[in-house]
Amino acid sequence: MPEYQTHDYDVLVIGAGGAGLRAAIEASANGVRVGVITKSLLGKAHTVMAEGGIAAALSNTDERDDWKVHFADTMRGGQYVNNWRMAELHAKEAPERVRELEAWGALFDRTKDGRILQRNFGGHRYPRLAHVGDRTGLEMIRTLQDHGIHLGMEVHMEATVLKLLKDDQGRIAGAFGYERERGRFLLFHAKAVVLATGGIGRAYKVTSNSWEYTGDGHSLAYDAGASLMDMEFVQFHPTGMIWPPSVCGILVTEGVRGEGGVLKNIEGRRFMFDDIPENYRSQTADNEEEGWRYTQGDRDARRPPELLTRDHVARCIMREIREGRGSPHGGVYLDIAWIKNRIPKGAEHIKRKLPSMYHQFKQLADIDITEEPMEVGPTTHYMMGGVRVDADTQMSDVPGLFAAGECAAGLHGANRLGGNSLSDLLVFGKRAGEHAARFANKNGSATRLRLDSEQIKSLAHTALAAFEREGESPYDVQFDLQDLMQKLVGIVRREEEMRGALDGIEQLKKRAEAVAVAGNREYNGGWHTALDLPHLLSVSEMITRAAIERKESRGAHFREDYPQKNDSEWRCNIVVRRSESGQMTVRRQPIPEMPCELKQIISEMK
Ligand code: FUM
Repeated sequence: MPEYQTHDYDVLVIGAGGAGLRAAIEASANGVRVGVITKSLLGKAHTVMAEGGIAAALSNTDERDDWKVHFADTMRGGQYVNNWRMAELHAKEAPERVRELEAWGALFDRTKDGRILQRNFGGHRYPRLAHVGDRTGLEMIRTLQDHGIHLGMEVHMEATVLKLLKDDQGRIAGAFGYERERGRFLLFHAKAVVLATGGIGRAYKVTSNSWEYTGDGHSLAYDAGASLMDMEFVQFHPTGMIWPPSVCGILVTEGVRGEGGVLKNIEGRRFMFDDIPENYRSQTADNEEEGWRYTQGDRDARRPPELLTRDHVARCIMREIREGRGSPHGGVYLDIAWIKNRIPKGAEHIKRKLPSMYHQFKQLADIDITEEPMEVGPTTHYMMGGVRVDADTQMSDVPGLFAAGECAAGLHGANRLGGNSLSDLLVFGKRAGEHAARFANKNGSATRLRLDSEQIKSLAHTALAAFEREGESPYDVQFDLQDLMQKLVGIVRREEEMRGALDGIEQLKKRAEAVAVAGNREYNGGWHTALDLPHLLSVSEMITRAAIERKESRGAHFREDYPQKNDSEWRCNIVVRRSESGQMTVRRQPIPEMPCELKQIISEMK
């Protein structure tokens, strides 16, 4: 019988980023016993990499802003396949969640009269991102962690879940996993589980995501029988570092453009003026001077085109690169140094507003961003798709299984606006925690995990199988998968290539089943990768199947073979689910009719 430790909670939260911590805080505040599992160390979650700010209509920097404008911006950015109820709740509740964070001790940059300062970001009509320099995610995690830890949650650091467990009624009843440090197995009994595992970026070669983002929550939920939605919508952030190769993909915050940074091609031309989408034309400047005035707070000026939505900016950058107008290392230029000519003590200003960017480029690329332009290119950044949840409670279609943040779908539709993820984590993390606690209180006595020793033995045996055989390294399989997804299911997609990707994924699955690892179970990176592979392959297949199904271009999903948006056929969601026989099924799902008052808001804001 393999050795394992057992833990018993009312609510088990998997993931300790913004959504997980906020859920754990809320569940603890509701008086239930809460366990938190994090793959990394507490405080190191990938949320710390969200740099530019938290989107919330606080109306501190521009009093014309309110939840209605934020709602309309989010729906337009998501190309109207968002879950409108989530977009409504998010826009209404984000300001309160930010003020709460402030009350718990979070630091923010301030307006002259002491209120939280808000900055411009792509797709947001008014300056809306509450921020502290370019380290907002870090501050958010620090605050949530400090606050949460005093409420009594138990944290299991450096632990990974391999399987969600259900009772004989089909309700969630716990999880099985292992400690990364010592390799021991863990069995969690839980009345409700909140998935807050973040994204899938490690399925791609070039990504801003940290090593934890292997799609665990997406794949665990799929395996447990939940529906997933919008998996075709993978966001490529327009600006990641591209040089030197060792740092390729690291995020260059949109805050640079929010502070006046401009994109140029090798000819020195601001190519973003070349292609302004019709539905943003009235709000987008058609000359450099006006764009600059907007950045400086001129309320009558229109936004610079660098602040169009991420899907569009990423595609414009790709166009420049493909048509031979890229920078020497295969990207384009992002220039913030030019604002020195416009602002007194410009270099100091840049360093104060973008301290992390300054250090990142100085230390990693030997570039002084107050003097020289940065070389940037698109990087896999965010997954709009995820577990399909009820908007109000965040529960999936598996009773007792909740999801919040990046691993849940709905809020962002086909494209997320920058800054909407941090507010998403707070708003829906809180809701998930609250409703998971309620579910645990209501259904707890009925939910009891009955695992016999044979089942535990079998889970452990599967997890350890790679130690028992000769075979190739799991890293090789992961490398080939990342290469395949980057090339065949990337920013620009074609049916033929994606069908090739599906064949490739099938072959990689076979290779993954046969990988071998050496050494023992303590801190064995090869073993961890072998256990990540099924998740990575599962999300890659979901992305590819959903992307083949959607025969149009919308938001982050661009099909070269179907370059137009097709509202009459495709203004719907695509749902992925496992059939009884274990096949991955993909189907279209109509979007519920939006209430008249929300429709009216959208038409008034157009
Ligand atoms: O560009 C950024 O700072 C990223 C923010 C986000 O993805 O929300």
